[in-house]
Amino acid sequence: MANPVSIRLLVAEDVPQVSQHVRNLLSVQSHVQLLEVLSDGSKVLEAVNQLRPDVVMVDLLLQGKVKGPQLIERIRDSGLDIPVVVLTVPQHPLARDPNRGIEAVLTLPFSGFELVNTLTHVLLDRQARTSGACRVISVFSPKGGVGKTTIAFNLAVSLAQMGVSTALIDGSLQYGDLRSLLKVPSDVPSILDLPTDKVQESDLRDVLWRDPAGIDILLAPPRVEMAEMITPRDIEKTISLLRRLYEAIIIDTPAALSETTLALLDGSDTVLSVVTYDSTTIHNTIALAEVFSSIGYPPDKIRYLINRSDSSGGIGKDELMRALGRRLDFEVVSDGRLVVSANNEGMPFVVSAPDAAISRDVRRVAEALLGRTAGASVRH
Ligand SMILES: Nc1ncnc2c1ncn2[C@@H]1O[C@H](COP(=O)(O)OP(=O)(O)OP(=O)(O)O)[C@@H](O)[C@H]1O
Ligand SMILES: [Mg+2]
Repeated sequence: MANPVSIRLLVAEDVPQVSQHVRNLLSVQSHVQLLEVLSDGSKVLEAVNQLRPDVVMVDLLLQGKVKGPQLIERIRDSGLDIPVVVLTVPQHPLARDPNRGIEAVLTLPFSGFELVNTLTHVLLDRQARTSGACRVISVFSPKGGVGKTTIAFNLAVSLAQMGVSTALIDGSLQYGDLRSLLKVPSDVPSILDLPTDKVQESDLRDVLWRDPAGIDILLAPPRVEMAEMITPRDIEKTISLLRRLYEAIIIDTPAALSETTLALLDGSDTVLSVVTYDSTTIHNTIALAEVFSSIGYPPDKIRYLINRSDSSGGIGKDELMRALGRRLDFEVVSDGRLVVSANNEGMPFVVSAPDAAISRDVRRVAEALLGRTAGASVRH
């Protein structure tokens, strides 16, 4: 079978004959790269962190301080989101059980074809689940005050209104824009309340704030200096867990491109770059497009949204597109009165004034991001 996938494999196996068997099978093919075989189960999590395998294979009968079943459990509970293939013998039959972290089972003796096939299927399954089921969209701009928080909140609520289970992450970690927008008390849990080493789905559910508008919000810490306690790795783990629970994740971000903001953007499928008709914003947006391209973001990861699109301040739409070297994907009109009063009440305008032009614009963005319309929604 032609197989385009390259799989990085880590093996936990303490029987030399079995490791040799796996090495022999893999030596005659190029789809699977064997990173390492560890005979000590207690070293596996550290190796997973360092080597970043796509799949870990664990011998059910692994002996030592951390035995096979215990290791499988630890990997599942680590929040690292690495699929485990369990290797066993006919005397110890075992069924596939993703809830227990067992994505597939291989019973000895198996052929090279079975081995590669199993690993490939596990990986393709995982990719289909993570990329297909959940859309992660961050709302970003290198300039402050362009409407990121307003758009992120209303976009998330629009998605929820369309029946899409949606989480909103307050990625403005220092100031917690959503905490103040929604007037959430400071003792409500934040991203900091997620355990760092062992994040599980149940932990996440306890930490998210349920907004009456139908979305779940992962708040930023209640105090500015606490933002420093969050690492890019925490963000990566949080997004990967939320992906399993929701169909859409919207991320509000701050204007500064810090390590943590970059982790939020890295973890997103789409970066919705908010632009306004303002020369500094346009200048910074162009500078940033170069950064995105140099760090390897594919061009279609970035979508441009012009906010307050009817307040052009003398700059034409065509001129803006020429400067960006790109089409604008979306536009949202200005509505100062509605936006200010809705924001002051912590109420999404897509709920309080669903027929307003601005609400229709935001809904159009939601539909396009879900692939339910032709895509771009810019009036010409
Ligand atoms: N389409 C719009 N029409 C009218 N006013 C708007 C619109 N979008 C945003 N605003 C107003 O602009 C101001 C800034 O909005 P918001 O806080 O959402 O921006 P931000 O990009 O998140 O800012 P920051 O960089 O500080 O996080 C708010 O007062 C908001 O009411
Ligand atoms: Mg903001």
